[in-house]
Amino acid sequence: MSTSIHTFSITPLTQFSNRNSQIRRPQQEITHFSYDDHRRLHHDQSSLKSYYPPPLGSDLSSGFESFRKHDSSIDEHLDGLLEAIVELERRSGKKVSADVITWRGMMTKLMTLPYDIRDGFEMNAIKFQDSIFIEENHSYQLNSQSVPYPRQDLMTYWGYKFEEISTLPGNPSDFSRETIESRDYNTVNNEQQFCSIVKTGFGGVRLIIGGEVDAVWDQNPPPDPLNKPPVYVELKTSKTPRRPHEHVNFERKMLRFWAQSFLLGIAKIVVGFRDNEGILEGLEEIETTSIPGIARRSGRQLWDGKVSIDFTTTILEWIKETIGRAPEGTLWRLAHAPGSNTVDLSILPQNSFLSSTFLEWRII
Ligand code: A3P
Ligand code: MG
Ligand code: MG
Repeated sequence: MSTSIHTFSITPLTQFSNRNSQIRRPQQEITHFSYDDHRRLHHDQSSLKSYYPPPLGSDLSSGFESFRKHDSSIDEHLDGLLEAIVELERRSGKKVSADVITWRGMMTKLMTLPYDIRDGFEMNAIKFQDSIFIEENHSYQLNSQSVPYPRQDLMTYWGYKFEEISTLPGNPSDFSRETIESRDYNTVNNEQQFCSIVKTGFGGVRLIIGGEVDAVWDQNPPPDPLNKPPVYVELKTSKTPRRPHEHVNFERKMLRFWAQSFLLGIAKIVVGFRDNEGILEGLEEIETTSIPGIARRSGRQLWDGKVSIDFTTTILEWIKETIGRAPEGTLWRLAHAPGSNTVDLSILPQNSFLSSTFLEWRII
């Protein structure tokens, strides 16, 4: 049970259209980490792969039977992100500080909300030592998944298979024809991940966001990622749009692609276009910064990147202000009910979701 006490209205969107929020750009990587294929965390770039185009005609279903899928029923809270922050503070001797610290996925939900209110979400938030930590309410996420349709698992696999046949470990200049061609036979495993942690900001709200990066475009490992931003790549699959409504759907989807990559400063998105059976038909390389202009020039007025940024600034300021007025350690629920026009903040019974490693490090 929770008491609803504060409400933020999503519409009308005109309330966000004359703000001109300042974004701290470029997003600056402060640290990174890797999960290996057994989900062990390493404070390095060992799981970062390089992009190398896959062959057209590839069957994205191949190897589905041997997919090694990460168990998404496990609640990982903010553990990896907090562990990386502890390691960074240990090394630098300086405290990492920001107004909001969260996974990129939470921020993508906020950035896309003005144009898609259908799906609900629940997040937990707590203020600790001057920063607001926000995590997904994992049980809500598990329970709100729609009833699976027959091909759903296969279609999810297509996304991971595309990543597997589009990347290679190591430096592109060292790839042999043999390793390039062997990619189609690799077991697909989504335990392995590279995560970049960046410092950024929306208006007056300073943020630290962690999120997965699919690949790097050029040199791997990037020689000096903290000072010279690597050209990172986000990989996506999508059905080749042919009919008018499919073009509309794709343009809507681009908002999510853009927001997700924009937040971490990922410079390029490679879309693998597939048919209904999962055969790869085409590839398109898109510069992340060009996407809002594509949506603007199409004339369909489906979404506006500036409104999305100004909306995010406004809701973050509201979160910072509301949570900031209550005593530290208060546990909050940030919720959007499916189809509703609001985001609600309410207080939950006391309980922290911050990892013991992090709390022990910070309290001593
Ligand atoms: P596609 O996005 O190409 O379909 P990401 O693109 O974020 O790197 O995620 C990689 C893949 O994970 C996705 O590929 C998709 O297959 C799967 N995935 C990510 N988020 C998902 C979600 N909310 N529901 C189902 N599958 C998801
Ligand atoms: Mg990914
Ligand atoms: Mg991807």
